[in-house]
Amino acid sequence: MTSPALDVAATLSDWIRQARRICVLTGAGMSAESGVPTFRGAHDSLWSRFDPQRLATAEAWRADSALVWGWYRWRMARVRRAEPNAGHHALAALTRLHGDLALVTQNVDDLHERAGSTVEAHVHGSLFALRCFDCAQPYEGEWQDCDPDTPRLRLPPPVCTACGGQVRPGVVWFGEALPADAWNRAEQATLRCELMLVVGTSGLVHPAAGLPGLAQRHGARVAEINPEPTALSPSMDLAWRANAAEALPELLRRMA
Ligand code: OAD
Repeated sequence: MTSPALDVAATLSDWIRQARRICVLTGAGMSAESGVPTFRGAHDSLWSRFDPQRLATAEAWRADSALVWGWYRWRMARVRRAEPNAGHHALAALTRLHGDLALVTQNVDDLHERAGSTVEAHVHGSLFALRCFDCAQPYEGEWQDCDPDTPRLRLPPPVCTACGGQVRPGVVWFGEALPADAWNRAEQATLRCELMLVVGTSGLVHPAAGLPGLAQRHGARVAEINPEPTALSPSMDLAWRANAAEALPELLRRMA
């Protein structure tokens, strides 16, 4: 007898074969098996341990930039220590195999790139795309390294070489607009796809969480890979309860 997990894997690999254009939307769960903490859900998730209002807003930066910079430096150190997992590698291989797969991520890490993928859009920015808080000039200079095992270290941010302002991480904070170019590319990839694969996101943060619905309204199938039910699950055409680092290699095996 075939198990339900094998059925969804078979169906999804058929859908991948049939779709001329695929969009994959990833979230923090994609990098969970690389040891990068998610924001919600798990006991050690970021927003269960830290207050986003004190760490991930422009107001927080103005109030205490050293606290915010120290926390992001810790996150940067965690990501630098992490390696892409089997899911990142499988997605890169799947892209080469399929030929028309656009990768849109909410993740601010660089693990997709380090696995060999080209990311169509980082809709929430990138940890390492540093820029000045005041004049927005990109910052290419050095920054002080910190210990990946020690959060809550206060560190003074680097100084902007153009205006002398303070250098901030290149992520989108609560209350900020998404980078327009990245968002436009994400919308285009959504509108043109015939299949959207939604991997490792809780589907709670808009506007990114609206992309699967947009794809569906334009005729695409939408499928979720996530070990837990999410806010998006009820509207999915298929939900595979599995970890990214297991499901994506399984799909690749079925495609090869
Ligand atoms: P969340 O932390 O909200 O959700 C992570 C999702 O990953 C959950 O649904 C988990 O069930 C799932 N998950 C956990 N382990 C997994 C695994 N091994 N394989 C697959 N899925 C797994 O992360 P996001 O949805 O990405 O915003 O969060 C969206 C945004 O909220 C983030 O981009 C961030 C945050 O505030 C900004 O930084 C602007």
